[in-house]
Amino acid sequence: LHNAQHIIIEPGDSNKNLNTLSFIWEELSTKGATRHSCLINLGGGMVTDIGGMASSTFKRGLKFINIPTTLLSMVDASVGGKTGINFNGVKNEIGLFSESNAVILHSAFLQTLPYNELLGGFAEMIKHALIDSEALWAETLRFDIENPNWEELLLLVKKNVEVKERIVIEDPKEQNIRKALNFGHTFAHAIEKMYGYKYISHGEAVGFGMILACTV
Ligand code: GLY
Repeated sequence: LHNAQHIIIEPGDSNKNLNTLSFIWEELSTKGATRHSCLINLGGGMVTDIGGMASSTFKRGLKFINIPTTLLSMVDASVGGKTGINFNGVKNEIGLFSESNAVILHSAFLQTLPYNELLGGFAEMIKHALIDSEALWAETLRFDIENPNWEELLLLVKKNVEVKERIVIEDPKEQNIRKALNFGHTFAHAIEKMYGYKYISHGEAVGFGMILACTV
């Protein structure tokens, strides 16, 4: 890794677009990436989504490893093989299912997250708990996200990844049960679009989306 080359992109879902994807392809090309290269996607869900897509399309597919740095990407975005970009004003309009070669979770990243980022990730954890079991629901409600115990949070993250993995193994291409993972997302995507993919994080929008889905 000491000799690894860096590709740095602008943050935020509003940059999860064709321009940024094209920039990554250009950087891979000019920095001499070959079919044997491996792209390490270090960042939140935006990075794992667009980085996964760049890796899966450059030279017909490089290996890639996701190292999610936000709670949301640890429990949701970095696992399950969804990669993609927003296009023509529509969230995740272009993309492909492509599983990373590895996902590395490190609790240290959680401890420097802004509170709203923690809340956004916690919304996806509530989603997993609601669609999984009463036991996980009770455990999630017991967890104090305002005053987090990092060891406990990492254990909960592990359980969330297991929930998602169970669903994705059963229905990798979202023909059936995987649709449950989109709970709250129809409203969430509308809210995110209304704000131009700025000002509100995906996780926060999912939180509002689940409330709306349960009330209509
Ligand atoms: N974020 C929903 C899914 O991966 O299916």
